[in-house]
Amino acid sequence: MAGGTSSLDGKLLVAAIDFGTAYSGYAFSFRSDYRLDPLKIEVNHWTGNGSQMMSPKAPSSVLLNPDKTFKSFGYMAEEEYSSLVENGQHQDWYFFTKIKMRLLYKEAGIKSDDIMLVYEPEAAALYCRFQKMQNISNAKDDSNLSKKKKMLVFDMGGGTTDISIIKIISEREIHIVERACGGAFGGVFINEEFIQWLEDVFGKDMIKEFKKKHRSDFMLLIENFETKKRLIKPDDDTPICFQIPLSLKASSEKVWGYSLEEHLDKMSKSSVQVKKRGKLFIKSSFILNNFFLPIAKDVFEELRKALSKHGDIDCVLAVGGLAQSPAVVSEIRKYVKDIPVYVPFDSSLAVVSGAVLYGHENNIIKARVCLYSYGIQTMRPFIKGDDENKKVDQEGETWCKHSFRALYKAGDLVKLGDVSSYNLVESFEDENRNHKRFKPIRCVLFTSKEKDVRYVTDEGCKEHGTIDIDVPEGGFPVHYECTVELEFAGTEIIARLKDENGTKTIRLEFMN
Ligand SMILES: Nc1ncnc2c1ncn2[C@@H]1O[C@H](COP(=O)(O)OP(=O)(O)OP(=O)(O)O)[C@@H](O)[C@H]1O
Ligand SMILES: [Mg+2]
Repeated sequence: MAGGTSSLDGKLLVAAIDFGTAYSGYAFSFRSDYRLDPLKIEVNHWTGNGSQMMSPKAPSSVLLNPDKTFKSFGYMAEEEYSSLVENGQHQDWYFFTKIKMRLLYKEAGIKSDDIMLVYEPEAAALYCRFQKMQNISNAKDDSNLSKKKKMLVFDMGGGTTDISIIKIISEREIHIVERACGGAFGGVFINEEFIQWLEDVFGKDMIKEFKKKHRSDFMLLIENFETKKRLIKPDDDTPICFQIPLSLKASSEKVWGYSLEEHLDKMSKSSVQVKKRGKLFIKSSFILNNFFLPIAKDVFEELRKALSKHGDIDCVLAVGGLAQSPAVVSEIRKYVKDIPVYVPFDSSLAVVSGAVLYGHENNIIKARVCLYSYGIQTMRPFIKGDDENKKVDQEGETWCKHSFRALYKAGDLVKLGDVSSYNLVESFEDENRNHKRFKPIRCVLFTSKEKDVRYVTDEGCKEHGTIDIDVPEGGFPVHYECTVELEFAGTEIIARLKDENGTKTIRLEFMN
């Protein structure tokens, strides 16, 4: 999720791009409009050539020409690639779907001064804070959202569900006090359950063949499921109708030697009925109980745990595309009991719109909990109980190498502008070390998910960034001292190395 800029001086607008697992979109608002109405945010509406659906986000898919130049994005990319496949012309083209994970490796073509990363749950929380009450639907509680002091944001998207807990300190100050990762639950997995069910009914090989030979029919079937699954309501068992493509029906019946109706009868699929011309009616409860709930169980359990850990939660904000499902929200309500659940009408836009708001007011999140420990590699005196393999004798003393000196610990609440510092001392007196005075010193910052880390070689401890201290003219003095500072600067960490020659700064991602 990216959006905004850290310095807004002279800038006209803030734009945000939300790269989602399933869908991506962008939104923007002008600085002048923001001052009058923060929620005046423009969102694009996407549609494909043959698609009936208009949506504020488009599938996260890209098609590149054979020469690797850009051809199309979203619905268009999916449709164009399907027709290339059907015409057997796709071999030289490059089609990427669910591109979010690939984007983690590089951002693309935007000057780093003009971009910043925004954490999705924070953006969603901000958006909900700005939402007017009439835009929030809630069955049980109609009290004012602005009076809520501690909220749980439950963001259910395409590929992941995130849980975070935010504390509203004042109009201008929000603290993120807990980030519990809900896990891999999202709309994409529900569609995958449906595809698995199709494989179960028609056979894996048949579906594979169908996907290959009739790709656009396959895509239409999934799009049909995508639209119809959104109609599922709690406590309503109305059968949902899916059109099974005639190409799939005909080839399967040819292999079986009998009709699809007979086949389903033989499989005892009583929740499914076939009507004329391949119209399949599946009971809503079957879809909910077989495609939605089994995969949601774990994240609902995480939700329950988070609520019992924080007994003082005032309300749950359900955002992300899945929060638009009345059936899913009804399940959430079962887990949260008396705590009111709020859902913005445009819940799938909460992240991208919230990122625009964050771009305008990027210092509103004044504190956030560290998901990782941050520390630097040091040598310290060896103490009883230390790993014998880390023992080093130097200058008449016994040292412990590879020691992790924590600057922030996982679970710490760090405030905007907080600085943690450490004095780094290097001695080159020892004959064996004297030659090192003429080599740069590497100051390495490590991260780990663990709260207590002893050595940088511990499992899960990873290099996060390095500041190289260049050799001064004539080499380092026999005793060299510098200060390493880590400043928490929103979604970034500013690492500064200060010595008598000046200050060296690098900017690193605050991992979340
Ligand atoms: N009414 C609805 N009922 C059920 N599912 C829905 C509904 N509306 C949207 N979805 C699902 O929500 C998902 C998209 O949500 P969203 O746009 O928040 O996810 P994303 O940003 O692509 O993914 P992520 O944030 O996990 O990377 C899709 O998988 C879609 O099927
Ligand atoms: Mg998302």
